[in-house]
Amino acid sequence: MLSVAVLISGGGSNLRALLDAAADPGFPARVVVVGADREADGLAHAEEFGIPSFTVPYTRYATREDWGAEVAAQLDVWQPDLVVLSGLMRLLPAQVVARYAPRIINTHPAYLPEFPGAHGVRDALAAGVDQTGASVIVVDDGVDTGPVIAQERVPVLPGDDEHTLHERIKPIERRLLIDVVRRVATGELDLAAAALGEPAP
Ligand code: GAR
Repeated sequence: MLSVAVLISGGGSNLRALLDAAADPGFPARVVVVGADREADGLAHAEEFGIPSFTVPYTRYATREDWGAEVAAQLDVWQPDLVVLSGLMRLLPAQVVARYAPRIINTHPAYLPEFPGAHGVRDALAAGVDQTGASVIVVDDGVDTGPVIAQERVPVLPGDDEHTLHERIKPIERRLLIDVVRRVATGELDLAAAALGEPAP
């Protein structure tokens, strides 16, 4: 059984979907802990499912590295096999990435490498593209620059705003995330190979 830690900043709808999937006894992974960089609304999902959680408020630390060291210390308590960044709106410092790589993945609401960063949906709309997407990547030291392990296109519809487009992307993200976690758990997807740039099966 693959043990998964999930880090969030916001409402945690992707976290929720993973918790729902993992509640099925046939699903090969379990969420063992949920962490946040602030008092995120999504922590309520962990509570509802009886999953332990921790908060390491980013603003209470002098440097990103100090904050990251505490996040890593909290994660280490649970020895997760996989760390999922699911709407964590902070860049993990390099020493934390190095500690868990290649067992850290991130969901992103765009078709990477298009529109990386904190405003993937807004940036796609501003660029006037007629399609964007959803991606799951292996985290590296850059901003959404790691190897893509799953992605799918999502059309931009006339009249879309950031909210409507993001709400259409999120269900795709959830499906991709759950499928990636399942494939990592079964060994079908080898993150070490993916991190070396080998194409995902
Ligand atoms: C998701 O769309 C996730 O991909 C995005 O934040 C949203 C979180 O939603 N993450 C990023 O943009 C990271 N660059 P949720 O809190 O409802 O799961």
